[in-house]
Amino acid sequence: MEKLTMDKLVAHCKNTGIVYPGSEIYDGLANTWDYGPVGVELKNNIKKAWWKRFVQESENSFGVDAAIMMNPRVWEASGHVASFTDPKMDCKICKTRVRADNLIETFSKGEADADAMDIPEMQAYIDEHKVKCPTCGNFAWTPIRQFHLMFQTKRDLTGANDDVIYLRPETAQGEFVNFMNVQRTTRAKVPFGIAQIGKAFRNEITPGNFTFRTIEFEQMEHQWFCKNEEDGFKYYEKYKKDAMDFLLDLGFKKEDLAYKDHEKLAHYAKAACDIIFKYPFGWNELNGIHYRTDFDLTQHQNYSGKNMMYIDPVTNEKYVPHDVEYSIGADRLTLAVLCEFYDEQTLEGGDTRIVYHFHPAIAPYKVAVLPLQKNLSEKTREIYKNLAKHFMCTFDEAGSIGKRYRRQDQIGTPFCITVDFETLENGTVTVRDRDTMEQIRINANDLVKYVENKIQF
Ligand code: GAP
Repeated sequence: MEKLTMDKLVAHCKNTGIVYPGSEIYDGLANTWDYGPVGVELKNNIKKAWWKRFVQESENSFGVDAAIMMNPRVWEASGHVASFTDPKMDCKICKTRVRADNLIETFSKGEADADAMDIPEMQAYIDEHKVKCPTCGNFAWTPIRQFHLMFQTKRDLTGANDDVIYLRPETAQGEFVNFMNVQRTTRAKVPFGIAQIGKAFRNEITPGNFTFRTIEFEQMEHQWFCKNEEDGFKYYEKYKKDAMDFLLDLGFKKEDLAYKDHEKLAHYAKAACDIIFKYPFGWNELNGIHYRTDFDLTQHQNYSGKNMMYIDPVTNEKYVPHDVEYSIGADRLTLAVLCEFYDEQTLEGGDTRIVYHFHPAIAPYKVAVLPLQKNLSEKTREIYKNLAKHFMCTFDEAGSIGKRYRRQDQIGTPFCITVDFETLENGTVTVRDRDTMEQIRINANDLVKYVENKIQF
């Protein structure tokens, strides 16, 4: 296969209804994207697979769905108001705004680790190497300044228009502020987990790269509350492995994933690493795992004045639990899936096809139901309606059967079911496998069981 480029991926996603540019008819809005009919199924299935693994199958994990807008004190307690910033600077000639750390990493082709530099070090690097503006090629930067990443809105309860509310920049705080509610209502014993999937917003400047870094995105976050530092380090190792296993079980190749330890730890973290993925534009972050100590619950205890102490029901010991956080962007993972499972094949006879080898559990449509000829449509619709009660199916009667197979391959439909004249005689259909392109004949009444077995995750 020719190397997948981001341009090719963006075009493919647009043409097949996976992802469109946001507000396209108004010339778009930078760093926003809309999922189309195929993409919304893919992303929903990815979220379902994650929830199944980290909530449904984790005996002591519980889900929440917290409000996006939270009391502004939450963001003071978490440290975001004071320090959730990016180092940015503007080109004085063409006004392009860049992130200083990204500029350094691109300039040095990943050799210089800007993550490990503070602002004066970044400034010194850029000055010393005379790093030029990527847009106009001039070296005429404003000094590096810290730009706040939280979006603000105003509630205007009093008419004074001065009640600032933030759009949450991470879902995690919704889990922390509900720690006591969840513990009390589920009677959970430490260690236990709280998970959430939801939107987060950051006023990011990004170098493009499709949905990799957007201003509005979904996070899938799981906080594991445990007793003390010893447990914190133990569960940190466990979640590193669990996060990697989840990706491998989805079918990611080992060689396309790696752990990357954080060199510069946040003040609240005692250990932190990312799992990085080999995107077409290079290795970059897919998810993060942090051992956050008892920092978050202690901060909320101090700022809210509410007790965050867990009382051990056996020993009566009282303590603020420690937390191991596993956080992955639903959009970021969807992008990695779109990169990893894309394939272009030359078939016997010289024909070519684009095929997505998604794990069947996350494939947008599980089944395409196709009449061999239009006069078989009535019987085919009957089969389609029955299957659609169980999983997402699509019906297609337009064009040659070969063309219809290609249309399904390029959106990763694992099974194409063809209804032909034999179906009318004995009730059997052909089932074509997306990856091997082999066909078998089975009774239409056995289809639900057959497909359900294949789409387990
Ligand atoms: N609660 C911890 C936290 O938010 P983070 O490393 O800032 O940590 C976690 O974000 C994950 O969220 C990242 O690994 C990435 O998958 C996703 N993410 C973060 N910022 C994003 C953005 N601007 N666009 C898309 N995904 C993003």
